[in-house]
Amino acid sequence: MSANARAVPVASRYSRRVVEERDPHAELLADFRAGMLEPPRSLPPKYFYDARGSQLFDAICDTPEYYPTRLEAELLERHADAILEASGARTLFELGSGTSRKTEYLLAALERRVPAPRYVANDVCGEILDEAGARLLRRFGALQVDSLCGDYAAALGHLDESPAAASDGPRLFCFLGSSLGNFEDDEAGALLTRIRAAMNPEDRLLLGLDRVKPRPVLEAAYNDAAGVTAAFNLNLLSVLNSELGADFDPEGFDHHAPFVEEHSRIEMHLVSRRDQQVQVTELEARLEIAAGEIIRTEISRKFSREAVDRLLALAGFEQETEWSAAEDWYSLFLLRPLAG
Ligand SMILES: C[S@@+](CC[C@H](N)C(=O)[O-])C[C@H]1O[C@@H](n2cnc3c(N)ncnc32)[C@H](O)[C@@H]1O
Repeated sequence: MSANARAVPVASRYSRRVVEERDPHAELLADFRAGMLEPPRSLPPKYFYDARGSQLFDAICDTPEYYPTRLEAELLERHADAILEASGARTLFELGSGTSRKTEYLLAALERRVPAPRYVANDVCGEILDEAGARLLRRFGALQVDSLCGDYAAALGHLDESPAAASDGPRLFCFLGSSLGNFEDDEAGALLTRIRAAMNPEDRLLLGLDRVKPRPVLEAAYNDAAGVTAAFNLNLLSVLNSELGADFDPEGFDHHAPFVEEHSRIEMHLVSRRDQQVQVTELEARLEIAAGEIIRTEISRKFSREAVDRLLALAGFEQETEWSAAEDWYSLFLLRPLAG
């Protein structure tokens, strides 16, 4: 804790705003209608993250098989000062920040550089933002934390109204945990383009991406022996039950997460163990799900160098620096937004 930790009351150093462009419940209904009524069934991964889902994701990060968090943390620990130096940032803005545990390396480096550091955290899960905020304020005595609760697009849309907009100097946008890999190429390109549109020319983006590696390592990471990823995947059904008045039976599904080489991605599946019917009260719908049928709950892309280059070109970013771990198993990219 820095020397002036007691000088500024904690409460005045934290704010949380809800930023939503669309009503989250209406959006879930629309996504459910679009993806779940008929096979092939799928949902966007953001619905995993109620308070329990966020805790389970945190527990996944601690499993021995889940190398992405470990490798990204090692890179951040080793290069945080260089990243802050290269970006010249005075403010950090993070999309999908979760617990912000790895971000602490960057915040420590930021605190070493600037007397009044600011951190703007965005996540769909309000509980995790508040918990992380409280922890960060205890550790970093001069840090101002502003949380934007809502999805990526809404946070980017409201960034200019947040106190971070008032801070002078360059900002470091962070998108870590390979969360960009949850999107197909066109959606990932659109999200990166949206990020670029929210950036000033002197801002930089730190993008963490998981890379291609041997199948056994990949599949072990998403099928951990303790069953934490399985519990995380199945928790989605509890979210749907409570949000939509559905009666999914979590015992009726198995977790399965194969590496699909053709698309260079892990796919998270819930596989129906039997023929079953699911009632969804809010939609007045009944799903007929056959034994063996799959609900795809997430994709997690593994990027080749070519795929990275293609995305950056598509979205108008130029790479300034790359830091890679363990024979390119995981990479951090410091990116400059191109004009236009
Ligand atoms: C895979 S976790 C990564 C967390 C953290 N960045 C890390 O690297 O450990 C994804 C995080 O993004 C949040 N999230 C998922 N979809 C989101 C969305 N569409 N908009 C905002 N946050 C989202 C989740 O709540 C979760 O905390």
